[in-house]
Amino acid sequence: MCGIVAYIGKKEAYPIVLKGLKRLEYRGYDSSGIALLKNEEIKLFKKEGKVLNLENHVESKDNSGTRGIGHTRWATHGPPNDKNAHPHLSQDGAIAIVHNGIIENYDVLRQELESKGYKFNSDTDTEVLCYLIADIKKNTGNKLGKSVRLALQQVVGAYAIVVMCKDEPNKLIAARKSSPLVIGIGKENDFYVASDATPIVEYTKQVVYLNDGEIAILNEKKGLKLYNIDEVQKDPYVEELELHLEALEKGGYDHFMLKEIHEQPHSIEDCFRGRLNAKEGWVSLGGIKYYENDIINANRIVMVACGTSWHACLVGEYLFEDLARINVEVEYASEFRYRNPIINEGDIVLAISQSGETADTMAALELAKSKGATILGICNVVGSSISRITDAGSYTHAGPEIGVASTKAFTAQVTVLTLMAASLARKKGKLNDSKYRNLLSSLEAIPQKVQLVLDKTEKIKKIAAKYKDASNALYLGRGSSFPVALEGALKLKEISYIHAEGYPAAEMKHGPIALIDEEMPVFVIATKGPSYEKVVSNIQEVKARKGKIIAIVTEGDEQVKQFADDYIEIPETNEYLVPLIATVPFQILSYYIAVMRECNVDQPRNLAKSVTVE
Ligand code: AGP
Repeated sequence: MCGIVAYIGKKEAYPIVLKGLKRLEYRGYDSSGIALLKNEEIKLFKKEGKVLNLENHVESKDNSGTRGIGHTRWATHGPPNDKNAHPHLSQDGAIAIVHNGIIENYDVLRQELESKGYKFNSDTDTEVLCYLIADIKKNTGNKLGKSVRLALQQVVGAYAIVVMCKDEPNKLIAARKSSPLVIGIGKENDFYVASDATPIVEYTKQVVYLNDGEIAILNEKKGLKLYNIDEVQKDPYVEELELHLEALEKGGYDHFMLKEIHEQPHSIEDCFRGRLNAKEGWVSLGGIKYYENDIINANRIVMVACGTSWHACLVGEYLFEDLARINVEVEYASEFRYRNPIINEGDIVLAISQSGETADTMAALELAKSKGATILGICNVVGSSISRITDAGSYTHAGPEIGVASTKAFTAQVTVLTLMAASLARKKGKLNDSKYRNLLSSLEAIPQKVQLVLDKTEKIKKIAAKYKDASNALYLGRGSSFPVALEGALKLKEISYIHAEGYPAAEMKHGPIALIDEEMPVFVIATKGPSYEKVVSNIQEVKARKGKIIAIVTEGDEQVKQFADDYIEIPETNEYLVPLIATVPFQILSYYIAVMRECNVDQPRNLAKSVTVE
């Protein structure tokens, strides 16, 4: 939810930390701040709003120093303002901390510290942790690293922190539990720390992903030392980053979201590269393939996720049940984790998450694991928390998705689910050879077909202009296009702030049809397939009440065009693959409607890219 960047070494810290915060701004942008250590003094700068506000605030000040910690915030405790912005200082100003997560017992800790005479300046849980570390350091005489560890032993909740102390200027302390933190190892015994690898990649590709309960002491003179919460030293596992800097830039597009929409022919191809060969007739999905028998023999599969990833699970349900005849239940992770669900050892719980850090999804998995279920994951971020706790999983390889509204991650998730369903169906003998190969070759053709839809952007833009001032919208679909309707509605509402709802098309008669009038745009997926005629009837019901129909139709379909106010033709494909293509026009439509409404497309109000708190 928040972004952390830190540096210790010989270079000036401010430009490194500031640039890194800009790369992480998609994680939260209510406020930001930087603390710089020089000549055993800590200089603190922090401002409400975007990182640019901080930059403008600092540029005319002395921002020198080769140690720095920075933070961009998504508020959890205390409203967004300067005083609640991170970094926070200890009462004596000797220690500075940045924190991503939630300290659930902060109130108890705060009261204990207040009873000792401490006075707090902010409403945050983070300041409490900083005071606790300082209190322990003062009363025990321990060094910073041990003081941090002792403080964290008292903490209940989630944290990724970086701490620095003016009395120990040669070190930074980094620690994590349930919130991500990556350490970059520089070439001159300097160190970078960040919430993910994007602020680090331009300086070094040697990284250490901190695990839960680990504490790293980054000492410019003594190097990196890693401990667990019980002070047992561990060997750091250094990995080579595969991320490339250019992947992080907008690549000439106005927004990351538009870039990511247009990346989909490549991201879908990257997702199935090396995992699919229609000619030879095989699918091979890394870690998950070793669990195919477990999945086939499982009592059921429970898919857990949030938001767009939950919509991908719904597509997966249609694919797994229709193709492979495997019983699937789809659950909102936030509901699953609290409703005391029945979970047995024979169950498989599959989590889908772009960030791999969504708190509710993580918690749902931990609950399933505690009850003996096999837990699998489909994530986009390599080394993310969910990818590390699961028994096995598959990465979607969609590349960094910076835009808060998920696009290429969704089609990549559906691609992985399609590969899984095809492979399981084949293994269970539910899909004969020709249908199997047809499905695989159709999947191999999807990138080109998505490109054909992207080539219709100008037409879609014109349609967007017609409906940009709508106050409400309905999205309808049947079968595996129903989740696409849900996803289309989510895209519109989260970036244009137009209220939109997705429904199974047949549900119209059970209430929503009361909403239909000439002001109501109704986006309908009306592609050729088993329920085509029924969708056409639904379209006519809407037209009879003067609703506006914008239809996604199969190329060459002349029938629906007669009833639609506007239509977007998409290439014909295997019926199971329609969601991969039909979702793209809705992404483009939402994007241009949001742009025309002058909304902040990449960083919509109130939202963050990764919801790492409840
Ligand atoms: C989708 O556009 C939203 N950004 C949001 O619903 C997102 O899908 C959800 O928060 C889940 O995130 P995850 O895939 O990283 O777990």
